[in-house]
Amino acid sequence: MDFLTATTQARPQYGIIIFPDSGLPLPVKFRTQLEIGFGNGEFTVQYAKANPEIFLYGIEISQSCVLRCSRRAAGLDNLKIINTDARYMLRELFEDETLEKIFMQFPCPWPGNGNAHRRVTARDFSDGLAAVLKINGIFEMVSDDENYSREVWRVLGLHEALKAENFEINPAREITTKYERKWLEQGKNIFRLTFRKLKSFTVERRVSQEMHIKIKNKINKNDVEALKNISGKDESKKAFWKFGNNFTDGEKFLLDTLTSDDEFEQKFYINISPRDEGFLIRLDKTSGAFLTPAVRSALTDAAQRLCTGRS
Ligand SMILES: C[S@@+](CC[C@H](N)C(=O)[O-])C[C@H]1O[C@@H](n2cnc3c(N)ncnc32)[C@H](O)[C@@H]1O
Repeated sequence: MDFLTATTQARPQYGIIIFPDSGLPLPVKFRTQLEIGFGNGEFTVQYAKANPEIFLYGIEISQSCVLRCSRRAAGLDNLKIINTDARYMLRELFEDETLEKIFMQFPCPWPGNGNAHRRVTARDFSDGLAAVLKINGIFEMVSDDENYSREVWRVLGLHEALKAENFEINPAREITTKYERKWLEQGKNIFRLTFRKLKSFTVERRVSQEMHIKIKNKINKNDVEALKNISGKDESKKAFWKFGNNFTDGEKFLLDTLTSDDEFEQKFYINISPRDEGFLIRLDKTSGAFLTPAVRSALTDAAQRLCTGRS
């Protein structure tokens, strides 16, 4: 499968970036690994160059980091990176038992009770890890934070599919990261934790590929305008959506929409275009959003309100 889109072909340094419309799950090779939170990508690019037999994916939440890494990686054909939240998207991007190794270097320890759901130890995330690793696959975390390292060691070690294998202090590492060099210069300890997946494990996937809603009535500018500032929540209260401004060429409409699924936020356009005698409502292809439950709820809500004129 070719990930490149027209935009990336025009700017070859961006050819390693994956866009949501590339389709899920992502394809894997015989030996595929994943780095989560690669920062400026210095380690990532050196690692991919030093290991040409491995196909490496990187997930990073920061757009500027993704762009920095893509510039460093120009010309590399065994690395693809994606700008998204690994906490929510890990299990959506990969099928079960596809990755031989997942590594995280110097993840934020997210201190405090209110942040527990953001840590590697959150059950949602560790279940995703356990699902997408191959049997015998490795999860490796490197950190400068001893308390966090000990918590991860204890909690992930209790996961039914994972075995805590190694807890090393100041291991020798051929390639180092920016943070690592900073901590070592300050005389701090570095902790490397290794876990092995021992048995099959699976998780529910929440993102779907396609959703088109047809409505039979005509829609005009006032109908779409009336959606502005309308918001909604699903029953679980984990999915939230809000509509904003719209843009129109007089025929079709792009409706600015914000969604949140358990704090995974996406901003995108809902495309409302004439089709047959009525209108077709769908996620706009240029939006770079995944069809999460909140996005599906937003599409359904917009369609129902436009259908019944009850905005
Ligand atoms: C402390 S930095 C470490 C960067 C790099 N690994 C290093 O060692 O130099 C943590 C990185 O994780 C990224 N990050 C934080 N939360 C994330 C998430 N949920 N999904 C993907 N990346 C995330 C941040 O944007 C940041 O680049």
